[in-house]
Amino acid sequence: MKIKAKPHGILFFFLLIGLAYSSQTDIRIIYINNVDGYLRACHCPGNLFGGLLYAFGVVDELRAENPNTIFLDAGDLLPAKDWKPKAEYAVEFYNKMKVDAVNIGDQEFWFGTQFLKSLSGKANFPFISANLLVKDREFFKPWLIKEISGIKIGIAGILNPETMNFLDKEKISEVEVLDYRKVLPEILNEFKRQRVSMIILLSHSGLEEDKQIAKQFPEINFIIGAHSENLLKKPVIEGGTAIFQVEHYAHYLGVLDVKVEGNRVINYQNKVVKLESVPVVREAAQIYQTYLDASDALVDSLSLKAKQANRDYKANPKPSDCGSCHFDEYNHWSRTQHAFAWEVITKDGRTTDVSCLSCHTTRFGKSGGFVSAEVTPGLVNVGCVSCHTDFEGHPDKKESMNPISEATCVQCHDKPNSPDFELSYYRKAVLHKMKYHVVRKGDWLSKLAGKYYNNVSRWQIIYRANRAEVKNPDLIFPKQKLIIPAIPENKIH
Ligand code: HEC
Ligand code: HEC
Ligand code: HEC
Ligand code: HEC
Repeated sequence: MKIKAKPHGILFFFLLIGLAYSSQTDIRIIYINNVDGYLRACHCPGNLFGGLLYAFGVVDELRAENPNTIFLDAGDLLPAKDWKPKAEYAVEFYNKMKVDAVNIGDQEFWFGTQFLKSLSGKANFPFISANLLVKDREFFKPWLIKEISGIKIGIAGILNPETMNFLDKEKISEVEVLDYRKVLPEILNEFKRQRVSMIILLSHSGLEEDKQIAKQFPEINFIIGAHSENLLKKPVIEGGTAIFQVEHYAHYLGVLDVKVEGNRVINYQNKVVKLESVPVVREAAQIYQTYLDASDALVDSLSLKAKQANRDYKANPKPSDCGSCHFDEYNHWSRTQHAFAWEVITKDGRTTDVSCLSCHTTRFGKSGGFVSAEVTPGLVNVGCVSCHTDFEGHPDKKESMNPISEATCVQCHDKPNSPDFELSYYRKAVLHKMKYHVVRKGDWLSKLAGKYYNNVSRWQIIYRANRAEVKNPDLIFPKQKLIIPAIPENKIH
């Protein structure tokens, strides 16, 4: 992929001047934020493209265009759930992508301080934060100065204390977050003393806070923001400071080209590169493959343990077990999307990617839950007990099962994976109520999708649900009774 900055008038003007003053240097700053451990997009509705797998080659090309490049991350590199190796492989990617600094975001503490410390030991790049204090664990720096082609760049990192609120207190018991308004002046003075040509603040604070910081500290040239996950195609300007941010999950990379003359920034240009339809380079594919292999090995070892436990491994009931008494509910469920949750990850070849299993199988990681397709073939998909979790002793026990709460759904229907989730609409679509359509002459599947979903391209949902009866999607016959799976009303548009 060729990435070209389109010079606008003003830059061209400076280029001309540049011929007269050859002391100009072009510095390129590649930036990113809130990667959230995404090595590769899951292709769930909220996450259709991107990931470090794709960022890798683009960074290479951007660097080839200008060797005076630095690459910075404003924080939340690590996932706030899932599996630790995903965090480790994110660092592995960054090692090979020659990242220059990662600002510590709140999610970096998800696996605790000790884990972050050991991870930083494996990193070829520094983690930084100016307003964090971690007791007895000085594994990161407050700031650094990067010298590139004789140009000094001051880089500091900060974290908004409020972002830490979502973490369990015990994970951050050793962490103290200082007021960055108190620590920044000292650092900015140090940068001045060392005669840096530009100051970059990596700020894990959210856009609104960044605007305040820009107002208070006008000597900062650029703020690379994070946390509020805004996609800023153009920087937000506050006084003389430009604020940048590129959404999340490695969907985009930011590219800031700065022209420095003598000791100051004279001009800059910014663009945002969407990591969609970009080729994967070999080195990136190799790292990703080692991740998949490690994931595969984990599923294998879980499998082996369950097999060794043999009689003791008591798998949860599978849908057909419940279906032996609840035939109608079973029939309905087997036509919903939950009954195809495994098939969609099979298509993607990711049935041993542990980062998919917790949501696309039944109770992965929970007692008696899904282990592997081999050991627990009945627990692929989002089965009955994913929702009816209070099933132990049923139907013999007297009390009825707990009604299903929103908390049950949002373990899986979270922001990244199900951005349109709204309980009232989604709940109606899973209540075990069957809806039928009797085929008339002139009906075809996409026409029915248009009628029921207002969207002709959703015909596959009807096809999938009726696959046992409809062998060929082009052939449906008058008087045939088709099931029309319910979909959430807010998706009917
Ligand atoms: C041996 C037959 C049998 C099996 C197997 C069975 N159930 Fe039931 N279930 C019943 C009976 C009987 C009732 C009470 C029916 C009624 O009140 O109409 C019931 C009621 C329910 C209810 C209704 C509400 C409540 O809270 O009482 C739910 C939900 C339910 N079962 C879910 C399940 C699930 C999930 C499974 C599989 C894990 C399952 N059942 C397996 C017989 C069975
Ligand atoms: C936190 C839970 C969660 C995780 C983890 C997750 N998914 Fe999903 N995925 C969902 C949900 C929920 C939906 C449906 C969302 C909706 O329609 O609102 C979905 C939808 C999808 C779809 C679209 C299905 C269709 O019918 O078009 C694909 C493909 C998919 N996921 C693949 C994956 C893969 C591959 C992974 C692992 C890399 C993964 N998912 C990880 C929850 C998750
Ligand atoms: C996506 C979540 C989900 C899945 C998966 C699911 N159910 Fe339900 N089920 C519900 C909800 C919601 C209700 C309404 C009652 C409630 O909120 O507790 C319900 C109600 C029921 C009832 C009570 C009677 C009725 O029809 O309303 C039975 C019986 C039942 N489910 C059986 C099953 C069986 C059997 C399976 C698997 C084949 C299954 N359910 C899978 C969400 C689910
Ligand atoms: C264990 C994870 C999990 C749980 C729990 C879960 N879902 Fe899902 N849900 C999924 C996945 C994965 C998909 C996408 C499957 C596919 O497209 O093949 C999905 C799809 C759906 C869809 C279809 C969306 C569409 O675009 O058509 C609805 C509706 C839905 N879920 C509602 C619910 C509700 C309501 C609950 C709670 C009662 C719930 N789900 C609980 C994982 C889950």
